[in-house]
Amino acid sequence: MKTIGVLTSGGDAPGMNAAVRAVVRTAISLGMTVKGIRRGYAGLIENDIFDMDSRSVCDIINRGGTVLYTARCPKFRTEEGVLEAVENCKKHGIEGLVVIGGDGSFKGALQLSRHGVPCIGVPGTIDNDIGCTEYTIGFDTAMNTAIEMIDRIRDTAQSHERCSVIEVMGRHAGYIAVQTGIAVGATAIMVPEVPVSMESIIRKIKTAQRNGKKHFIVIVAEGVGGVEDIAKQIMAATDIDSRATVLGHVQRGGNPTLRDRLRATQMGYEAVQLLNQGKGNRVVAYQGSSVVNYDIEDALQMKKCFDERMLKIALETAI
Ligand code: ADP
Ligand code: F6P
Repeated sequence: MKTIGVLTSGGDAPGMNAAVRAVVRTAISLGMTVKGIRRGYAGLIENDIFDMDSRSVCDIINRGGTVLYTARCPKFRTEEGVLEAVENCKKHGIEGLVVIGGDGSFKGALQLSRHGVPCIGVPGTIDNDIGCTEYTIGFDTAMNTAIEMIDRIRDTAQSHERCSVIEVMGRHAGYIAVQTGIAVGATAIMVPEVPVSMESIIRKIKTAQRNGKKHFIVIVAEGVGGVEDIAKQIMAATDIDSRATVLGHVQRGGNPTLRDRLRATQMGYEAVQLLNQGKGNRVVAYQGSSVVNYDIEDALQMKKCFDERMLKIALETAI
C-alpha cells in the first residue's frame, strides 16, 4: 500500500489527535503517503481530503478534540453514501484507511472494506463501551476530568451538608460512572447495566446518615439519566438538601492523560503496520497489556462483560 487515509468519526475523544499523529508519522516512516479526511465519513463523501506530512501533526499529541474534525454522517449508512466515498478514495489513490472512532464508525469501516477499501478501526470514545477492547482512547482523560469536577462539587456539598447527584457521560454504558464513583467515594452509583431501586439508595443514605455522614455523592450514568428527579426523591425521603449536576461535554475536552497518549500512539502505530502488511477489515484493540487485532465483523459481535465486582467494591467502601 502506497497511500492511506485517516479520519476521526463519532464523538470526539481526548487522545484522538495522538492517534492521528501516530498514524501519519508511522506511515511516513514506512514510505507511505497520507491523506487526511475532515469530518469523518462526511468528508469522504464530500471529498474534503488533503495531503498530510510529518509536520501536519506537530503539536497535537497534547491536545484534546480532533484536528481532523469529526461528524456523525447519516448518509454513510446508505449504499449510495458508501459508493460515493469509495469513488473519492479511488480519486485520491487511497488504498487503505484508518478509522478512529466507536463501534458505529467500525460498522462504516466494515462497509468500506466490503466495497474494496481495506480499513483498520482504532477504538476512540470516552465511553469505553467497545466489546473487543479493554480500553478505548479518551476514557482515562474523561474520568480524570470528571473526578476533578466532582471533587469541586464535593467541597460545596460538604460545606452545606448536601447530597449531590451527578450525571456523568456514557450513552448506554456505566464504565465512566463506576470507576469515577470509586474514585470519588460515591455513596450510590446508578448504571444502565445493573438496575437499582430508589428505595435501596435512599435506605443506604439513611443508614449512613444515622452513622453520622452529612454529605453524599450519588453518581448517575447518562444512560440512566433523570438526575433532577433523583435529587428531588432523595430530598423528599431524607430531608437532606439535594442538588443535581450534569457534567456534560466538559468530560470530552482537555489535554489527554499519559494513558490516552500512550494507548493512542500504540494503536495508531499498529493500525498502519497492519495496512502495510496488506491487511484490512481489522480493528486494533487493547487486551491484557498488548495491542491485538480482530476481524471487524467478529469485533462487532464481541460483548464486554460489565464488572459487577467493581460496583460491589465501590458500594462496600462507601458506607
Ligand atoms: P461512534 O463511532 O462513536 O459509535 P456513531 O454511532 O455516531 O458513533 O457512528 C459514527 C458514524 O459511523 C455514523 O454517523 C455513520 O456515518 C457511521 N455508521 C454508524 N453505523 C453505521 C452502519 N451501520 N453502516 C454504515 N455506517 C455507519
Ligand atoms: O459516545 C461518547 C458520548 O460522549 C456519550 O457519552 C454521549 O452520550 C454522546 O457521546 C454525546 O454525543 P453528542 O452530544 O456529541 O451528540
